[in-house]
Amino acid sequence: MKEQIQNIENQLSSYKFKASEDVEKFRIQFLGSKGQIKGLYALLRDVPNDKKKESGQLINALKQKAESLFEAAKKNQTSSPVNKLKEDLTRPAPDLKLGSHHPLSIIRREIVDVFKKIGFSISEGPEIEDDWHNFSALNFPPEHPARDMQDTFFIEKGENEIALRTHTSSVQVRVMEGSEPPIRTISPGRVYRNEAISARAHCFFHQIEGLYIDEGVSFADLKQTLLFFAQEIFGAKTKIRLRPSYFPFTEPSAEVDVSCTICKSKGCNVCKYTGWLEILGCGMVDPNVLEASGIDSKKYSGFAFGMGVERIAQLKFKVNDLRMYSENDLRFLNQFKSTL
Ligand code: DAH
Repeated sequence: MKEQIQNIENQLSSYKFKASEDVEKFRIQFLGSKGQIKGLYALLRDVPNDKKKESGQLINALKQKAESLFEAAKKNQTSSPVNKLKEDLTRPAPDLKLGSHHPLSIIRREIVDVFKKIGFSISEGPEIEDDWHNFSALNFPPEHPARDMQDTFFIEKGENEIALRTHTSSVQVRVMEGSEPPIRTISPGRVYRNEAISARAHCFFHQIEGLYIDEGVSFADLKQTLLFFAQEIFGAKTKIRLRPSYFPFTEPSAEVDVSCTICKSKGCNVCKYTGWLEILGCGMVDPNVLEASGIDSKKYSGFAFGMGVERIAQLKFKVNDLRMYSENDLRFLNQFKSTL
């Protein structure tokens, strides 16, 4: 009896499940009603009484081993991807997950498209910029606060200072240095400031710079261009308002407000009950800036403007926490699918 048990045990241990049919073959051979283990129980009748208990225990252990081998083989069979495929080759493939454009990309593209319609080209410059293009050529005096370590991320200090650009106005200089008027260009890009991150400020954000230089360009051209832009982006009924301001690179300079798109100028907490929302800075390019880039300020004049993409997106999408734009939270990003 012991020999027979040992013999079946050896067969179990060396059994190879090669094909999926082998699982059922195994069951029939060892565990089936006419299988080898059932046969052993039948033989138990002829075993002398004093050996019955021991033999019975050995057969039970053998049966348990066969059962666990069978269960494991069955599990293996169903979890194998090949076998899953074998089950139903006509099954439809799972849906592909479609991505979506980032809200800032959507707005940037909308703004760029507006200016493309009126003949502006697109230009880009480096994010790591030297002092000349970011500050000096734009008429920043040496002691201007933006040149301070507290406001700007410097990479190299000293004679030839290198920093992460603090605005896209640096691209103005590069375009003027590299081309002859007439110039009509917009420059979208990322900018950096040494700010603590909060709902209202971030250490990086996005701007779009505009520059128009030709003979006889006037402040009226600037106003009309910005009105066109505001009405294309915020709706045909949008009004603009210019408030005198100061930038080192423009003279005169102004800040531009649009009539509040949220309350239709009736007064709400977004426009702080003024009916107006500030959207950009602008002005006539200072003759010093033209000359610094090799453009004859007696012959040419021009205007420039710069806006924050996050600010425009905030007004269009009513997002009030700047951090959302860079957290990559899918619950936020998925909401912009329909805007494609
Ligand atoms: N560079 C300014 C800023 O970062 C924005 C700006 C204002 C750009 C007036 C201009 C301009 O071109 O004319 O705040």
